[in-house]
Amino acid sequence: MIQPHGGKLVNRTVTKDQLPENVKVLTLNEREKNDLEMIGCGAMSPLQGFMNSADYNSVIEKMRLENGIVWTLPVVFALKADDPTVTVGDTVLLKFEDKIRGSLKVEDIFSVNLDHEAKETLLTNDENHPGVQYLKSLSGTYIGGLITALDLRDSEPFRDHRLIPEETRVLFQEKGWNSIVAFQTRNPIHRAHEYLQKVSLEMVDGLLIHPLVGATKADDIPADVRMLCYETILEKYYPADRTALSVFPAAMRYAGPREAVFHALLRKNYGCTHFIVGRDHAGVGDYYGTFDAQEIFDNFTPEEIDIIPLKFEHAFFCNKCGGMATARTCPHTGADRVFLSGKKVRAMLIDGILPPPEFTRPEIAQLLMEAAQK
Ligand code: ADX
Repeated sequence: MIQPHGGKLVNRTVTKDQLPENVKVLTLNEREKNDLEMIGCGAMSPLQGFMNSADYNSVIEKMRLENGIVWTLPVVFALKADDPTVTVGDTVLLKFEDKIRGSLKVEDIFSVNLDHEAKETLLTNDENHPGVQYLKSLSGTYIGGLITALDLRDSEPFRDHRLIPEETRVLFQEKGWNSIVAFQTRNPIHRAHEYLQKVSLEMVDGLLIHPLVGATKADDIPADVRMLCYETILEKYYPADRTALSVFPAAMRYAGPREAVFHALLRKNYGCTHFIVGRDHAGVGDYYGTFDAQEIFDNFTPEEIDIIPLKFEHAFFCNKCGGMATARTCPHTGADRVFLSGKKVRAMLIDGILPPPEFTRPEIAQLLMEAAQK
């Protein structure tokens, strides 16, 4: 079984009676709530809490934690306008929408330059970028420190598919899979996704479909609609003994290249040995080059990443080939290839037009249509 990032699977989960009493309560936003769950269950190993200034600065400038371990995106907790004053040494509770979710031992309170963070991690300051919009909503003060987290999965959506790293590792063992490819997605599975997954499945033992279900931007397709699509397509078109579906409860950062490495490292914690990186992974708009999210892996040695990125060209259905292909396998031209942007598909669905089977399986098109017409 592949080692977790940093060598040891973190577990910061506690029960309610282990939380401190009569202490101040600070407020989590949706991304921080997602991060707390991810750190608590070990998905973000070796992180044991929200970053202090040394790790934060090191991640921004060097794509490494202060101890040298590769880590490409900040995982931070921001002080909110209505929060009580806290000082280093305090232990506080963390709540989201009035529900206590865990605790934080305040080790560091530091001011940051959010413009600099945006420029370095998202590679833009453009306010149209959803990640920049998120940063602009923050105070500019972060609080770092060790966390504990309650396991609140019983009251979260997709409970049956909300496996933590410890559980996916057991699952892979039970299935007898030695090599497992993870597929990150924030979209319903379309033909190009399916092609990448099945080409990968020709090379490894098992496929983990690992859709991101944390915070996404408003016009992304909601996770409950996507889950219905995943379940439907898996049942009809995938070998049950070689495929697993579980959710990845992280927030989407839309950070393109840096997020591709982040996504890969976290899937290693879940026990996966391979990770699919296609075109413009975790991208949005035109902010990143088509293959930047693949090239960023060249900054690191294979040993320090350990999970193997499986890099794919832009995949499409070619009418002349009569099947899925990429520029590596298809000799035909643009006019023969079916390309549909997410934006175009959304517009079609709103107009009551089903996307063609060359783009998405009919059963999925139908589900998307029903959701769009609601
Ligand atoms: S992402 O934000 O999670 O990356 P999406 O769900 O669209 O968005 O993509 C999931 C994975 O499939 C990513 O690795 C992405 O690069 C890849 N991908 C999506 N569409 C294509 C395509 N047509 N050709 C090649 N790779 C693709």
